[in-house]
Amino acid sequence: MGAGGFIGSHLLEAILERTQWRIFAVDLDFHKVQQHLQNHRIEFLCEDLEEPSVLKKISSYPIVIQLAAICTPSRYNTETQKVIESNFLTPAALAKACADSGSWLLYFSTSEVYGKTSSEALLLEEDQSDFVYGSIHASRWSYAIAKQLSERYIASLVHLSWTILRPFNFIGPRMDFVSGLDGEGIPRVLASFCGALVKNEAMKLVDGGKAQRSFTSIHDAIRFIFLVLEKPHLSKQEVFNIGNPDNEISIRELSFLMQKIHAEITHKNPKEYKSPIEVSGTNYYGKGYEDSLRRVPSIQKSQKLLGYLPTEPLEKTLKESILWFIDHYTPIIENQETQR
Ligand code: UGA
Repeated sequence: MGAGGFIGSHLLEAILERTQWRIFAVDLDFHKVQQHLQNHRIEFLCEDLEEPSVLKKISSYPIVIQLAAICTPSRYNTETQKVIESNFLTPAALAKACADSGSWLLYFSTSEVYGKTSSEALLLEEDQSDFVYGSIHASRWSYAIAKQLSERYIASLVHLSWTILRPFNFIGPRMDFVSGLDGEGIPRVLASFCGALVKNEAMKLVDGGKAQRSFTSIHDAIRFIFLVLEKPHLSKQEVFNIGNPDNEISIRELSFLMQKIHAEITHKNPKEYKSPIEVSGTNYYGKGYEDSLRRVPSIQKSQKLLGYLPTEPLEKTLKESILWFIDHYTPIIENQETQR
């Protein structure tokens, strides 16, 4: 579920390449996987997960991978009820259906469950770290709390086989959207900065860009998912971070690094770029926004149990992503300009 999204589209391709499995792909939008729409190994269903008949059919498969979620922070404080419902009620109903049918549920939670981490935060460990969330008015955390409750609900179902995965800022081609071109609103930071680069606009640095993130290449993430799938005896009833602690960077540094890589690719004069603009989180995202200041995964558990070692450095993934955004969006921008 969520097969048409950023992670789903990469996973779908990897499953087609590496296995002979048949796939039942459910989502509300398949434009990121449109080149596979005729593939006879995939059954596509464009339907809402709230439909009980859809849940029943999904849970008739031996492995269920739940990727569907509202996962852009700009929506957490503006569509709070929907965010909670889609990240708790729907996964809970799915988990129940999987428990009844005997399917193995791979549930994509989030690194946000660790909550409002400070700039001093240590490595975050799956089975040790505490979760801290803001007040009820800090609606930014509604998503994290809904995901955390789903995790606890899943783990409470005695007959369910489950694995909980906590992604740490996956990045790569096809991530999110570019506002005004194929979506509206604020995408996550990689797409937001790539969008600014291809549109020659200023990047926006929320609260000075002081927050830090550890970015994970989508290719390392997909390798991780396969390790989980290949080792059910080690991964069932376990929670794993999926991340790369070596790729930590502040958002301010990220903006300069992305601009440098873009200039190298396009041979654009660095003086032609607009300087990043500092914006407050509340002005940019609205009331109720708060941030996690440092979020670095411990990957000790996944190294020990699954043999996972991320290999993709940040600069390489940024270059691949920026190239993809240029190739994909330049024709759309040119087309818009000729229509004006
Ligand atoms: C988000 C989601 O909440 C999680 O579900 C998801 O797991 C996580 O991304 C992820 O991609 O794994 P967050 O890390 O806050 O959490 O995502 P971004 O929107 O990419 O923001 C990262 C940082 O960049 C934040 O400090 C944000 O304020 C900043 N930012 C974002 C900017 O400075 N400018 C922008 O234009 C966008």
